[in-house]
Amino acid sequence: MSLSPATRAGTSMRSSIVSTLPCLTTTCPFTSEHQTNINTTFRQRYGQFPDFYVSAPGRVNLIGEHIDYAGYGVLPMALSKTVWMAVARAPSSVHKIRVEHMNAEQFPAGSFPKDPQAAIPNAQHAWYHYVQCGYKGAWLADTATPSCTGNALQILVGGTIPLAAGLSSSSALVVASTLATLYCTPQPTIPHRLEEIAELARQAEGFIGTMGGGMDQAISVMGQARLVQFDPVRTLPVTLPPEAVFVVANSLTPAEKAVAAHVCYNKRVVEMMLASKVLARALALPDVLSYKTFAQVQNALAKQQDRPVPLDEMQQLARRHLCEEYTEADLLGVLSPAAWEDWFPHASSEERVRIGQVREAATSYVLRGRAVHVYAEAERVWQFQRACALNDDDASPASTLDTLGALMNASHVSCDELYECSCPELNALTQRCRDLGALGSRLTGAGWGGSCVSLVSTKHLDTFLEGLKDYYATNVSLAKGQDWNEICFSAVPTPGASIYVPTSLENGKA
Ligand code: GLA
Repeated sequence: MSLSPATRAGTSMRSSIVSTLPCLTTTCPFTSEHQTNINTTFRQRYGQFPDFYVSAPGRVNLIGEHIDYAGYGVLPMALSKTVWMAVARAPSSVHKIRVEHMNAEQFPAGSFPKDPQAAIPNAQHAWYHYVQCGYKGAWLADTATPSCTGNALQILVGGTIPLAAGLSSSSALVVASTLATLYCTPQPTIPHRLEEIAELARQAEGFIGTMGGGMDQAISVMGQARLVQFDPVRTLPVTLPPEAVFVVANSLTPAEKAVAAHVCYNKRVVEMMLASKVLARALALPDVLSYKTFAQVQNALAKQQDRPVPLDEMQQLARRHLCEEYTEADLLGVLSPAAWEDWFPHASSEERVRIGQVREAATSYVLRGRAVHVYAEAERVWQFQRACALNDDDASPASTLDTLGALMNASHVSCDELYECSCPELNALTQRCRDLGALGSRLTGAGWGGSCVSLVSTKHLDTFLEGLKDYYATNVSLAKGQDWNEICFSAVPTPGASIYVPTSLENGKA
């Protein structure tokens, strides 16, 4: 029924794409039973078998929260829970990309135009809009004006990343879609490096309205545990101590990043941008409106003073020079004569829309607490990375775990008190995890719900998990049939996103 990919490829353009696109794997991401099930469903929905599969992991962030968009490195780990896509090229008469889900009841099918310029409808969020984001994002690689001349796609989605749990199920979907589109759409400019794909996927997710910093997409593309830095994306692999287990537990308070972005996530991004400008003015740096991240302020100060300016000094400067809260009128006093409209010369048109939405909902902006959190958290990331590296050499494992745990606890307090991105459920859960013997526990991801991650020593893991199970039984209402292994699990570093092209024989098995 379906042609093998090799038969379909046909053009020299496509074979060059296939040979240069990273992420291609020869290992099928599914058991053969699962693959057969996917193929059967695909055939029922689309009348043919898939040409290839893409798989992209979710992530748990170990430390470094809300600092990627401020220009600082973070330390996430890719999870073995993934989003996958089975994909085929549609017949040439089809002009829309169709997206189906294995669980059609919970995720009704949708479609979007083949034209990568088509806008994502803002009025109502639909799950498959993340697929459209990735599709549009893949075309950003094409420096010429993209015009899609290839076939439309037929896509079936499934996966194991718990939703709204702060584990990046949406970014994994964007990554999978970006890769799927890059793989099968002839474009002249194909990224050769994983870092470039991560950057495309970050930009892609911006189409849905969050002003994310790129952590989720980078770790999903690159996999394992890494210190990820930005502008441009670059990473440092981190070996976690073998005596440590990182346990993820879902507070079951949904964290839907895109839904209340104008008062939560994007509000923090705008506060960070405003604080950068106000701090730059206080430090008498030139061209204050050009600053959009705290890292830029730090770098400019270092340049002006011709010496490195450490993060803890930046923290002190933020404490000294910033007020806790500013109204727009206060900000005007500091940034005048420029008016609000001129304050974001660096913003894209998409970003201007998001900034406008934040402004409409805001009565004031908290600047000092946000800046202090970011500078201190950026330092904690490096301390965490150093403690892991030293553990490899000569530190005692127990003292390494204590150090890592203390950093995670400090990160949580800072997220709660200075960044105000926690919630009562996450505070209670992290506290209980510490009471049960975790050396550190903190919210992970954007916050305002979702999951926490706890550092537990391997020898205490069983008692910790038992205690946590009791806590859920008495304190957290579980929906009927909810799977405990989805709510609470030990994270294991996992490889990044991959594309797997089956042989026609494999497809024929279905
Ligand atoms: C979300 C964003 C990331 C990052 C985290 C907070 O997951 O997608 O870019 O900002 O929140 O650390």
